[in-house]
Amino acid sequence: MVTATAIADLCIFLLTWNVGTHSPRNQDLNSLLSLNGTTTCPDNQLPDIYVIGFQEVSTTPQVLKIFHDDPWVLKIADSLHKQQFVKVDSKQLQGILITMFAQHKHIPHMKEIETEATRTGLGGLWGNKGAVSIRLSLYGTGVAFVCSHLAAHDEKLKERIEDYHQIVDNHKYNAQGYRRIFDHDFVFWFGDLNFRLSGDMSAWDIRTDVDNQRYAELLKLDQLNLLREKGNAFSLLEEQLPNFAPTFKFEEGTNDYNLKRRPAWCDRILHRVQSNIYPGITLSANQLSYQSHMDYSLSDHKPVSATFNYKVETANRTYTDEELHEMTHGSASSPATPNREPEKGK
Ligand SMILES: *[C@@H]1O[C@H](CO)[C@@H](O)[C@H](O)[C@H]1NC(C)=O
Ligand SMILES: *[C@@H]1O[C@H](CO)[C@@H](O)[C@H](O)[C@H]1NC(C)=O
Repeated sequence: MVTATAIADLCIFLLTWNVGTHSPRNQDLNSLLSLNGTTTCPDNQLPDIYVIGFQEVSTTPQVLKIFHDDPWVLKIADSLHKQQFVKVDSKQLQGILITMFAQHKHIPHMKEIETEATRTGLGGLWGNKGAVSIRLSLYGTGVAFVCSHLAAHDEKLKERIEDYHQIVDNHKYNAQGYRRIFDHDFVFWFGDLNFRLSGDMSAWDIRTDVDNQRYAELLKLDQLNLLREKGNAFSLLEEQLPNFAPTFKFEEGTNDYNLKRRPAWCDRILHRVQSNIYPGITLSANQLSYQSHMDYSLSDHKPVSATFNYKVETANRTYTDEELHEMTHGSASSPATPNREPEKGK
């Protein structure tokens, strides 16, 4: 008889929030971070790992950054402090920030932690868009977390596609077998992707549909969904369809849309798992939740979170991290060549 052995069975919590340069002062993050007694992890457990991406954090002079974490990272550290979480790493590129915290017991299973950043836009132009990422070997598997802020405005779809490809092309790591984002066994890509609704529905008509919770109809117009179908960008990634109202653009401090912009699902969380690239090993990331947090009215965006069950299972034996690492990262003489699909229609 074959028995499945779980080498890793983790609940990973992802959050993206465009904070519109606001400071975290006076924010209570307990319900946002599932610290209020209710989580979306199995058995109502706390997440094993938090990966949190912000956009439009206020940028302070560089000299201060060398010595101090961003106030948002300090705020999260403070919120998670009582629960034995440890900061794994952070990376910031202007207003784009990614930070990762993990329960202490997982730290020995995290290796080759690297960060990377790509600024997008035309060379020479001082753009404030792009992506930051953290990659690591987690229980022997390669995972990349990418937080991006893509070009804004309805008519800038072409720029968003270009931003995506620029990030994919420019992001490079040193880890053996995992030089690029999509070399990774698991990829989580999230952020203010800034995709809007195609067509010419007015802001008022969109709001009416939202009020009637006609999300599925509206999402047929969603630029990201249309792009992924056509293979123009993000087609290697999957997304559970949002079952929450568009998270942009709100009047700050309220749950009312600011109809100077057409409401849109700007804030998104996607993922990719190469489930069966290693013989005898099954990788999976079942999505347990995908939600917006309407209680947080700090900026013109609502925060969006998702939880995933990150699993590494083997059919009939168990592996140490080192044995698995050998399989997944390859040895120097025979570099691992997982089957990378080329992105279509570039
Ligand atoms: C905790 O916060 C979540 C998300 O806002 C909410 O759904 C849940 O009801 C809250 N739980 C408690 C015990 O207040
Ligand atoms: C179980 O292990 C044996 C021997 O290592 C191997 O031949 C077989 O393919 C494995 N079964 C599965 C389902 O992977």
